[in-house]
Amino acid sequence: MADSKTFTLTNDATGESFKFPVIEGSYGPDVIDMRKLYESTNMFSYDPSFTSTASCPSAITFIDGEKGQLMHRGYSIEDLAGKSSFIEVAYLLLYGDLPSEKQLKEFSHNITYHTMVHEQLQFFFRGFRRDAHPMAIMCGVVGALSAFYHDSLDIHDLAQREISAHRLIAKLPTLAAMTYKYSIGQPFVYPRNDLSYAENFLHMTFAVPAEPYKVNPVVAKAMDRIFILHADHEQNASTSTVRQSGSSMANPFACIAAGIASLWGASHGGANQEVLEMLAEIGHKDRIPEFLARAKDKNDPFRLMGFGHRVYKNHDPRAAVLKESCHEVLEDLGIEDPLLELAMELEKIALQDEYFVSRKLFPNVDFYSGIILKAIGFPTSMFTVLFALARTTGWVSQWKEMVEDPGMRICRPRQLYTGAEPRPYVALDKRGASTERKASKSAA
Ligand code: SDX
Repeated sequence: MADSKTFTLTNDATGESFKFPVIEGSYGPDVIDMRKLYESTNMFSYDPSFTSTASCPSAITFIDGEKGQLMHRGYSIEDLAGKSSFIEVAYLLLYGDLPSEKQLKEFSHNITYHTMVHEQLQFFFRGFRRDAHPMAIMCGVVGALSAFYHDSLDIHDLAQREISAHRLIAKLPTLAAMTYKYSIGQPFVYPRNDLSYAENFLHMTFAVPAEPYKVNPVVAKAMDRIFILHADHEQNASTSTVRQSGSSMANPFACIAAGIASLWGASHGGANQEVLEMLAEIGHKDRIPEFLARAKDKNDPFRLMGFGHRVYKNHDPRAAVLKESCHEVLEDLGIEDPLLELAMELEKIALQDEYFVSRKLFPNVDFYSGIILKAIGFPTSMFTVLFALARTTGWVSQWKEMVEDPGMRICRPRQLYTGAEPRPYVALDKRGASTERKASKSAA
């Protein structure tokens, strides 16, 4: 009688069969529990970029790539982006439910009153060139936070985990704004406790001491929505980096710095900057066919930035919300950006092209976000910093979920070994030309 709770693997070479438990998810795919595979078969599973591997249990975010579905703690991204606020979504990601009015007020107060950074931190910036990439600075200064909070590095202490989480969510906007100010040679602007999360960030970024600065409510709403859309996204590369780092019991500040480093990659969070630079290079819709041809040419490393996704084989629901926000923000700000028209034309043509359709390559979260950020006034070099600012809430929530899991163990994958078989040591005077020939061959 087939047992629906097990999965049997048969080794065709020996005819041996091995049963593995099936674990049911609360929603979406079940998993085959392979933890005893090596012990049972003396073989590893092989999935180098984890296309079919569930790395952990998590209750925070669910994605159905075929349906283009994204939800946080059961709430759809469309509902959250349309009806919630970033601070409320941060509470939801961290604690699992939407907060009551009292809980939201208390949480918002706690975050607000942690937005200042130690006065000494400003001296870290001075070590960087003014033209340093803002993500290089963010990797440095976020990691440096662990040098200031020795009172909250014990990950086994609930109170210290809590205050670390709040400090990171609260201080990332301050550090991101300082990074921007440093790059343009303007003085740092302190946070203000009378402003909302997004308003405070905009104020620290664009205010100058010489005159009062009034936050544009349209821009603040768009900023808040962009933060919601970037807050968390299941076990993506940077979140997996944070989990991997945290599994060795590294402190949360160091783990988030590792996540920032991973997010910077052009295939991941760095794509939003690349999209704007790509659109600027395309320049006019007449050149779209030339760039589509390059994207399809296997000999050309060029890819259509902002297109494709490891999980979404349908529209990325975040891209649809951002596309709509693009129109709203540009209209409200009275900005005519030809890059928006160009992006929409590029999307239209690409989605009629067999190469993109057959590979289910749709616009992802990065395709439209940059156009709004440019309209708000950010340079392209700051785009991934904003992604990191928002994703810190997801990273911290995923880190906390993992550290609080009694089953947490250090993440230590194995490998498929493809190196030399055992061989005897060769004395230096016996190595001769054969070693040089081998070296020049492998260098070629
Ligand atoms: C993010 O994981 C997440 O959740 C990430 C993220 C998050 O919120 O954390 O959603 C944020 O990182 C979004 C993705 C941003 N990156 C980009 O926009 C960069 C451009 N996209 C590609 O580099 C690519 O689509 C990836 C990296 C996003 C996904 O890579 P995969 O899953 O490894 O896909 P693949 O390389 O196996 O592609 C399958 C095929 C290949 O062609 P064939 O070998 O089948 O002929 O599709 C092609 C690829 O060459 N392809 C593209 C393409 N993306 C995939 N061809 C041209 N342009 C592209 N953008």
